[in-house]
Amino acid sequence: MPSPPTYAAALRDAIADVTHGIAPQQLAAATEALIGRYRSVAPAGPPILDSADRVAAYAAYRMPATHAALSRVLGTVAETGLAPTSLLDLGGGTGAAAWAAAETFTSLRTITVLDQVEEALRLGRRLVESAPVEALRTARFERAAEGSWPQGSADLVTVSYVLSELTADQQGRLVADAMALGQAVAIVEPGTPDGYQRILKARNGIRDAGWQLLGPCPHDLECPLSAGDWCHFAARVNRSAEHRRIKGGELSYEDEKFGWVAGARPGVVAGQAISGRVLRHPLKRKGFVEFQVCRPDGTAGREVISRKQGERYRRARDAEWGDELP
Ligand SMILES: C[S@@+](CC[C@H](N)C(=O)[O-])C[C@H]1O[C@@H](n2cnc3c(N)ncnc32)[C@H](O)[C@@H]1O
Repeated sequence: MPSPPTYAAALRDAIADVTHGIAPQQLAAATEALIGRYRSVAPAGPPILDSADRVAAYAAYRMPATHAALSRVLGTVAETGLAPTSLLDLGGGTGAAAWAAAETFTSLRTITVLDQVEEALRLGRRLVESAPVEALRTARFERAAEGSWPQGSADLVTVSYVLSELTADQQGRLVADAMALGQAVAIVEPGTPDGYQRILKARNGIRDAGWQLLGPCPHDLECPLSAGDWCHFAARVNRSAEHRRIKGGELSYEDEKFGWVAGARPGVVAGQAISGRVLRHPLKRKGFVEFQVCRPDGTAGREVISRKQGERYRRARDAEWGDELP
């Protein structure tokens, strides 16, 4: 029997359906404009997703990647035992976090996506029409802007790829609002040095408020990475033929680099120590695996697991960048 399609495949199909009628050149031109705009790290000012074409281009060329990053992040968060019944996605655009959360957390019953751009919300609503689960099919996509989110609360609040579009003041306010609205928060940014700086600031704010860090850090001490280094991870994204056409690449996949942090109010999940976080692709050699890790004692460095370590070595062979150190 063929295995059931994953949500990534269902999302790809839904995106292909909604972009079907748009001329490839039109989508490619809108994608080019978006790529140019996202390369700039200046706050957005007027919305970047300012037309139906740009929103469609975002869905076709960026959403599979942001969805892959979120799936990785929320999968790690789920390992802490968090089981939210409600999700609020601030700056949720076309709903990538909603798709990732609905697959990761079968506990979810209500999903609300808030964004300033009606066109993005409209496309998000169309995408979930064919979604594999009820919680996603009934997700609400509502218009709201940073600084005036509607009152409410949720077990989990996501903020994904939004901080980079905001001024420093807005970024601080958005993280504070996410924490005020949620029992837990997950924040994702591009895996770049400046994305790391925004994540670090959010991480220290979450920690200093007395919340529990759910990841990726295995400790709540100062970040041990040396100057010039930055904490980031990678998620593999399968490219559809259309994605390759509009983005002009030959490879059938790409690696989306991202940084993230998640935290929860005290007592929301049982405290659970991890043995370390793998910070790079492990080097898998004959007879040993070498890792760069962040350790629970607040240091970062090299760990080697050799064949002599039996079962631990077998788990080390399977470990990936971003996993817990076996
Ligand atoms: C790069 S997109 C990310 C969309 C989605 N979160 C994802 O991960 O695919 C940034 C989103 O943030 C939204 N956004 C930016 N500034 C905002 C603001 N001031 N208020 C509300 N939404 C905002 C944009 O409209 C856009 O949908």
